[in-house]
Amino acid sequence: MTEPMTEVAATPGSVHVRAPGKLNLVLRVGRAGDDGYHPLATVFQAVSLYEDLVATPAKEISVSVSGRHAAHVPTDESNLAFRAAALLAEATGTEEGVHLEIAKQVPTAGGMGGGSADAAAALLACDLLWETGLAREELGHLAAELGADVPFALTGQTALGRGRGDVLTPALARGRFYWVLALFDDGLATPEVFAAWDRQMAGSEGGVDDSVLEVGDDVMQALVSGDPNQLAEVLENDLGAAARELRPAVGMVLDQAEGAGALAAVVSGSGPTVAALAADHASALEVAAALRARELADEVIVVTSPAHGARLVEPVRDSM
Ligand code: C5P
Repeated sequence: MTEPMTEVAATPGSVHVRAPGKLNLVLRVGRAGDDGYHPLATVFQAVSLYEDLVATPAKEISVSVSGRHAAHVPTDESNLAFRAAALLAEATGTEEGVHLEIAKQVPTAGGMGGGSADAAAALLACDLLWETGLAREELGHLAAELGADVPFALTGQTALGRGRGDVLTPALARGRFYWVLALFDDGLATPEVFAAWDRQMAGSEGGVDDSVLEVGDDVMQALVSGDPNQLAEVLENDLGAAARELRPAVGMVLDQAEGAGALAAVVSGSGPTVAALAADHASALEVAAALRARELADEVIVVTSPAHGARLVEPVRDSM
């Protein structure tokens, strides 16, 4: 199992927050609206792969990044965590700055909401550091301004997402699920995947059927059952074909995962991360070993779901 590798250390006066990456267990996509966004019906579930963020008082806002794919992540004002801190400062009128130190585990542009987790962690950490006293609900509104997946990174666990994916309803899920994640160093840009989906739909016979833009009762029942066999039956991602078109290795890894004993495998979000559901921990380890041997993915790890949303990591106090 992947343990949080905390490369960040909170010093006195700083705030350490951890926020999770997510999978989309179901992702249904509708025709884009005038704003360019596609309406979604999705089930998010947070996984035990986290972004750690330490916020330290500073005069201005700045960001540093370490960990998985850190070299691909900008540290200027285009960084989503930077924008989160700037948005909160503007919304609350604070004059304070902050340094945000991020240790990444969630892949960049992987379809797992890594940047969104950074933004959610930054919102919560700055809120605590600056003692703005905003309610979680107000943080949720700011989160939605930053990106479609940011509100879910705040709440974590399991939720139904509508609208752009930012209108959330908590969903009941029992048990713990074991996943094998196949990660790729090169990400896929979300707008490009949606554009590939648009092209595929324009070329398809039936076009987009917006009337089926919903998550079925069978999905909710599978979540409540806690039974991975039932969940495997309902995993589905409308963006899967677009991700496979842009990155053929994705399709091969999906096939390999199922051939190696996974109950089912699905692309997460806009990909290219492949999430393979295993019957239990032992089976997940076997599937992971088989996928590693095939060497198509750059990294193969085992995680569990559901996981908590963005939350404060209390400092470990010396017993002395
Ligand atoms: O909101 P976020 O920054 O996550 O979205 C990135 C891009 O992905 C959007 O600009 C849009 O092109 C695409 N997108 C979409 N429909 C969604 C979510 C994202 O078309 N529901």
